[in-house]
Amino acid sequence: MSTTFQLDTSTSRATPTPQPLRRLTVPRIRARKVDGVTEEPLVMLTAYTARQAQLLDAHCDILLVGDSLGQVIYGLPSTVPVTLEMMANHSAAVVRGSYHSLVVVDMPFGAYEASKEMAFESAAYLLKQSGAAAVKLEGGAAMAETVAFLSQRGIPVMGHVGLTPQAVNTLGGYAARGRSDAEAEKIVSDAKALDDAGAFAIVIEGVVEPIAIEATQAVSCPTIGIGASAQCDGQVLVTEDMLGMFERVPRFVKRYEDIATIIDKTVATYAAEVRSRAFPCEEQTYQPKA
Ligand code: KIV
Repeated sequence: MSTTFQLDTSTSRATPTPQPLRRLTVPRIRARKVDGVTEEPLVMLTAYTARQAQLLDAHCDILLVGDSLGQVIYGLPSTVPVTLEMMANHSAAVVRGSYHSLVVVDMPFGAYEASKEMAFESAAYLLKQSGAAAVKLEGGAAMAETVAFLSQRGIPVMGHVGLTPQAVNTLGGYAARGRSDAEAEKIVSDAKALDDAGAFAIVIEGVVEPIAIEATQAVSCPTIGIGASAQCDGQVLVTEDMLGMFERVPRFVKRYEDIATIIDKTVATYAAEVRSRAFPCEEQTYQPKA
């Protein structure tokens, strides 16, 4: 298995490989798009725990501690109830579990919208508590001033346009965006506003493909698509979705595995062995010295 860690099987602790990969930086990610072209697309996945980060790290350029942890980890109905403390704790775990990928942390709903000063305070808290290198926030032109304020004060910002899940109560659901001319124009102008404000990358989520392509061509920084287009400068998925932890996934998710079925079968075997007293057996029990 390719990983930046070696597992000490006696303690289950992960120790860095002798020559750990150097962690990617915001300038190196930003520089992957040159004159509108990204030779090698950026690979981003969500991560919420240290062990998950260890397993993903060597394969990814960016680990996103997404506020999707609200639904995925905490069983919440949306990302709206997610708190700064949740984001800080999970980001710290992901930073501890990774050596190579840039770690970006989502600013949760309510922690940045009211003012640029509030956004700075929340973002600084997240970076200080976790060691992550950048924040992501949702919203286009309305957030441009905030993006400029943070970027000019040492906090790199990844933008997020199109379907912005924190605005579910305004949008009325999670349907793809950009189907009307007005929506399409707004998505492209939102992306441009964030780019001009200094965002180092922009997530384009749930947008009809031609608009995702237009937005990607309109900005100088890399775009990272989710339910957007293969022509974005990179792609992101929620890791649990692509691993097949959930039966129902949005259309844009490719399920690369069926982890839920593997877990179901494995736990059924364990339960049967406990009930028949087949587990634990000699190998798993301690005996007094003879
Ligand atoms: O919260 C999240 O996981 C995200 C990605 C889906 C882009 O914002």
